[in-house]
Amino acid sequence: MSQGSASKPAIARKSSGLSGTVRIPGDKSISHRALILGGLASGETRIFGLLKGEDVLNTGKVMQAMGAVIRKDGGAWIINGTGNGALLAPEVSLDFGNSGTGVRLTMGLAGVYDFDTVFTGDASLSQRPMGRVLDPLRRMGVQVKAVEGDRLPVILRGPETPAPIRYTLSVASAQVKSAVLLAGLNVPGVTTVIEPAITRDHTEKMLAGFGAELSVKTDKHGTRTIQLQGRGRLTGQIIDVPGDPSSAAFPLVAALLVPGSDITISNVLMSPTRTGLILTLQEMDADIEILNRRLAGGEDVADLRVRHSELTGVTVPAERAPSMIDEYPVLAVAAAFAKGRTVMNGLQELRFKESDRLSAIAQGLKLNGVECEEGQDWLSVTGRPDGKGFGNAAGERVVTHLDHRIAMSFLVMGLASEHPVGIDDSSMITTSFPQFMDLMESLGAKIEQA
Ligand code: S3P
Repeated sequence: MSQGSASKPAIARKSSGLSGTVRIPGDKSISHRALILGGLASGETRIFGLLKGEDVLNTGKVMQAMGAVIRKDGGAWIINGTGNGALLAPEVSLDFGNSGTGVRLTMGLAGVYDFDTVFTGDASLSQRPMGRVLDPLRRMGVQVKAVEGDRLPVILRGPETPAPIRYTLSVASAQVKSAVLLAGLNVPGVTTVIEPAITRDHTEKMLAGFGAELSVKTDKHGTRTIQLQGRGRLTGQIIDVPGDPSSAAFPLVAALLVPGSDITISNVLMSPTRTGLILTLQEMDADIEILNRRLAGGEDVADLRVRHSELTGVTVPAERAPSMIDEYPVLAVAAAFAKGRTVMNGLQELRFKESDRLSAIAQGLKLNGVECEEGQDWLSVTGRPDGKGFGNAAGERVVTHLDHRIAMSFLVMGLASEHPVGIDDSSMITTSFPQFMDLMESLGAKIEQA
């Protein structure tokens, strides 16, 4: 969505027994990467199951502005890429809307080219730190012009010949890793990224699939060293995008919380770099059956049967954060209905998401009667399994701060709370999960625009 659109408040009410089978839209991370690499590769790329969320569509527009030809043919997106090293200088500024992934990956991809590129975004994205990507790019020789600190708008200009670097990630961020690797595609020589804690690995996998010369080595401490030979040829591919586990999380937690529920969520990406929430919920005694495990497009995929469960509080270790970084808002909602206390550690990165998610979660929980405590990098939630007194009888709404996952999480909370839960704005949900309202309604959830 673009800045300034009218906000759309919404409200969720206590529901009974969710049921049915739903298919979750395509994974957002993989969809961005498919458009970027398809737009860059020589020849034709066909993408099936692409997420049609606004974040991803913005990345598509940006690739078009740099020379990719993209069209839709039935369920497929067909891309004719420019060829590696042959992006065109964009004649317009590149607007990434709400998307950190779109902007940070493209800063790497285009920033090393010897032309000016202007990067912009909405009010939420313009408050997010870009230094984590700009620092390695500077080391490759990229010139950075920004008006204010490391915030958007930013103008990048690459040198005539960018330098290969060896870069150790200081934050566990797949966006930073991906930005450096994508930059490395246009750098002569070998670009090396060292990743102390594994983050989602879709970029590495997809680069290899498009024919990049890339190696990944993991040492005995789990540190990964990724090496990419620059300026190689990438060739168009056929890509099947699996369902997004970060979107599946919302109907999944809703079914766990609403008594009498029994739902199936089909075609969910089960990459071990993304399944921290499922593992945590299983530790909390959630009834999640993993069915029909299979490989699709090089990724693990499964169907999930989820039944209402009596949850128990747990301590979630900090090391698990990268594999469930986008799922803490909805996990915190699940924890509100669990017996005992849930403590989530290692949450420092939540402060740099579409909003300061740690404080947005804590404020939303408190507004709706949940006992919780927010630390600098942790959150503890004391649950009340029957949801008695939860919700806001006075009709006060959760402030979503332009954050789609805060919006969806609190709507899920309302389905099991005694009183309704309202949110000030649901419009951002279209950035990642445009079908959310219809899909939840089809399962029997009572959610409406307020
Ligand atoms: C993403 C990486 C994560 C995640 C984001 C998507 C990606 O961000 O929160 O929603 O596609 O690479 P960080 O790299 O900032 O952890």
